[in-house]
Amino acid sequence: IGVFDSGFGGLTVLKALLEVAPEADYLYFGDTARLPYGSKSVQTVAKYASEAAQFLQQQGAELLVIACNTATALAIDQIKAASTVPVIGVIEPGAQRAAKTSQSKKVVVIGTEATTSSHAYRNALQTLQVDAHEKACPLLVPLVEEGWVNHSVTEEIARIYLNEAFADGFKSADVLLLGCTHYPLL
Ligand code: DGL
Repeated sequence: IGVFDSGFGGLTVLKALLEVAPEADYLYFGDTARLPYGSKSVQTVAKYASEAAQFLQQQGAELLVIACNTATALAIDQIKAASTVPVIGVIEPGAQRAAKTSQSKKVVVIGTEATTSSHAYRNALQTLQVDAHEKACPLLVPLVEEGWVNHSVTEEIARIYLNEAFADGFKSADVLLLGCTHYPLL
């Protein structure tokens, strides 16, 4: 199983995969040289992610997991087109889990600028009869990259973002979907 992310954040996904399929062999590719993807264009993300998919296949991967929310949101179709093996992204499974968990059928999704403006989560949740409010939290990835995971500044910034996200019609939202590889670390 080849696991791809724009950097090391996707190790959160690899950790979860190891719990469900510990017997598989894994190849992990993090594109740290070109991180972040979250502020890049569709064309650029599609090109980088397709190259990574091809690289993982050359290394023998028989299944690809696109752990990166941004790459999944912007380029899953291009990645599939560039691959000869099955490709699984993170948006569909995340949306399905959120829809199953939510009683109010209102979900707040946080992610990178690119992920939220693509509305990939909103569209996936809409098909499951769930309303989504998507909120970009562009400061969180750099804070995690800086190692400020347990820092008071990070907590304050997260609080501001979440207050804005759970506002207006979404005060009754009962699920927060972490639509970015780095957020589980927070
Ligand atoms: N891996 C990206 C994601 O899940 C976050 C880091 C980046 O912007 O590249 O959206």
